[in-house]
Amino acid sequence: MKYRKFGKTDVQVSILGFGAMRLPTIGGDDSKIDEPKAIEMIRYAIDHGVNYVDTAYGYHGGKSEILVGKALKEGYREKTYLATKLPVWLVNSKDDFDRLLNEQLKKLDTDYIDFYLLHSLSKGTWQNVYNLGVLEWAEKKIKEGKIRYLGFSFHDDLETFKKIVDAYNWTFCQVQYNYMDINYQAGKEGLKYAGSKGIAVIVMEPLRGGRLVNPPEEAKKLFENYKIKRSPVEWALLWVWNHPEVSMLLSGMSTLEQVRENIEIADKAEIGLLTQEELQIIERVRDIYLGIKAIDCTQCQYCMPCPYGVNIPLNFHLYNEGVRYNSWGAPWWQYNYGMNPEERAENCQKCGECEPKCPQNLPIRELLEKVADALTSKKTLEEQ
Ligand SMILES: NC(=O)c1ccc[n+]([C@@H]2O[C@H](COP(=O)([O-])OP(=O)(O)OC[C@H]3O[C@@H](n4cnc5c(N)ncnc54)[C@H](OP(=O)(O)O)[C@@H]3O)[C@@H](O)[C@H]2O)c1
Repeated sequence: MKYRKFGKTDVQVSILGFGAMRLPTIGGDDSKIDEPKAIEMIRYAIDHGVNYVDTAYGYHGGKSEILVGKALKEGYREKTYLATKLPVWLVNSKDDFDRLLNEQLKKLDTDYIDFYLLHSLSKGTWQNVYNLGVLEWAEKKIKEGKIRYLGFSFHDDLETFKKIVDAYNWTFCQVQYNYMDINYQAGKEGLKYAGSKGIAVIVMEPLRGGRLVNPPEEAKKLFENYKIKRSPVEWALLWVWNHPEVSMLLSGMSTLEQVRENIEIADKAEIGLLTQEELQIIERVRDIYLGIKAIDCTQCQYCMPCPYGVNIPLNFHLYNEGVRYNSWGAPWWQYNYGMNPEERAENCQKCGECEPKCPQNLPIRELLEKVADALTSKKTLEEQ
């Protein structure tokens, strides 16, 4: 296993971290972790040099922290940097900080957390916890020895990312980054921005949650025809590790085979390993993915605002994501849980005010109906 320096600290982290969000489960129930298998996988990773395990309050219906606590028994805790996250959306008052951390320490059966993150910060959640004094509270916990280092994970736009980075002397941040997301959320610019401030960067979703494992045929051929034979997973992971700003990449592995494979890939990784020719192949693969678009929306926003509050570009974006990666879980989740009801396609009142404003002349009302059909009903999703 290879190790990289963790930002301004003296800590050396393994370049591959274990993300405990996609552990093997029983009977398709996300909250029923297959404990023997999951423990075997985590311990196998640690035995092969992985020294960082990432969990969170909510993963696997709240069971991931308990499982990680069990996996780190029998001497494994001492070999591992343990990371978990404050579920900021459950914080309504100052008292919630202590309540949640104490609950997490109990579930993990440990006295301290090495790396504590404010989970999935966005404009709104950051403002809320900031106003409630999360930074002062966290500093107190660091002094008390309950937390060693403070960071945050992030899912919002670049501007918000930079504001949060500038608001505190963070040790680390965790961002979604892979060869498809160079201009999404924090993106490449955010990565460089955090790196320039000495903040350690952990990459999550390096395979876009598994959606880069099986690329479109044309992209597969590009990979296959190259002189060095690498799987799409290997291309994607090596691309992330190619960046000097990246301290570690978290992989949410769901089988022992994936753990073995990703450890082997990590052994090959280097900063700057990929040649110009190889980086160009990745760019061409990205273009192939981007070319797969069911709705030709350019996200120009000219159609907005909708008098009824429908977020037309976001609905089209989610639909295109489903088609592009042939994977509907994430768009379905964002549609049903991440959007306000008035923003959803099903709230279209068919007034047609948007259509003359669309430079692509899209039949917006008809398309919104299609999106609503695909994203409101699970049955339709399964049929996709
Ligand atoms: N803080 C946050 O807001 C946040 C958000 C997302 C993730 N995270 C953390 O970051 C970690 C990494 O993110 P992620 O789980 O989305 O990572 P990812 O690597 O993008 O996706 C993981 C999925 O990729 C597939 N995969 C991994 N290795 C593979 C291999 N060798 N061969 C074939 N398929 C492979 C598996 O899919 P299958 O299971 O379908 O086989 C696995 O479930 C998470 O586990 C979690 O700890 C944090």
